[in-house]
Amino acid sequence: MSTLIYLDNGATSFPKPPEVYDFMDHFYRNFGVNPGRSGYDLCVETGELVENTRKMLTRFFNGADPNRLCFSYNSTDALNLIIFGMLKPDDHAVTTTLEHNSVLRPLYHLSRTGVEVDYVPFDKAGFVDPDDFPKRFKKNTKLVIINHAFNVIGTIQPIREIGRHCREHGVPFAIDASQSAGNVPVDIEDAFVDVVAFTGHKSLLRPTGIGGLYVREGIEIRLTRAGGTGVRSAVRTHLEEYPYRLEYGTLNVLGVAGLHAGDAEPARSGPVGPGLGLIDLEVPALEVLAVERGDGLQDLVLLGHPHDKITPYPTYY
Ligand SMILES: Cc1ncc(COP(=O)(O)O)c(C=O)c1O
Repeated sequence: MSTLIYLDNGATSFPKPPEVYDFMDHFYRNFGVNPGRSGYDLCVETGELVENTRKMLTRFFNGADPNRLCFSYNSTDALNLIIFGMLKPDDHAVTTTLEHNSVLRPLYHLSRTGVEVDYVPFDKAGFVDPDDFPKRFKKNTKLVIINHAFNVIGTIQPIREIGRHCREHGVPFAIDASQSAGNVPVDIEDAFVDVVAFTGHKSLLRPTGIGGLYVREGIEIRLTRAGGTGVRSAVRTHLEEYPYRLEYGTLNVLGVAGLHAGDAEPARSGPVGPGLGLIDLEVPALEVLAVERGDGLQDLVLLGHPHDKITPYPTYY
């Protein structure tokens, strides 16, 4: 019998916990209607699930107001809303050279329209230096945006120190928690984070096609789209209030059900916790591969830092 060892959890986690599949199936068969569009019982119950999921995720990130938890398709979508909604020509932004394309590409696009972007480099172990940030701040710095856990070598960035600098200088601070949420705690209050973007399908162990952002009170993201919300449809322009401000069209209710997973609050950290425990888990998996290929592990090189990194969990079948 052949064993499949799945090591691609950084791209998307697989398989998901059974309660995710079970709850999605149950929900979509019984409640899969369009929430907020009408007042019949089913519609109200679907709406309750959406609101409960906002509350669950607000607690998860230690936010204050569930209405400021907005759903999006994924992190890329959330990051686009943040970057295009917070920067305009003649603004300055600070980011790093370890960002995913979902941050880099929107910034490259904006830099063609007069937004200036500074890129903080990382060291050999894969970390940025928090003190590099304030040195780059200018009068027109409108956003610092950083990848919390590096998708290439897993290093977890010192967001609390960076956040403290940002708060002291009054610069809005956004993090991309695509890889970190579900793997290490993401406490936006503790880390002085103003906006967090997340995706369902990676370390949160939830489905694809759903993600979102939490926007701290006092931080405004401009409207960059407009359309249906199901609320006050006679108003000619898109609603300004959260969460509708950043939600457009029919929600992916099946995805929201997957995030909710029957009240199964997502784990705040991976099953073995960050650090070398991960390597213990990974090495047997790699050994199976090495034995099958007839070679050893002598060429195995571990990149990045041995401890301060996220833990992609190998799964076995
Ligand atoms: C650090 C990071 N940011 C953003 C993304 C984009 O996530 P999604 O494809 O869910 O939009 C990824 C996906 O690989 C990622 O690793």
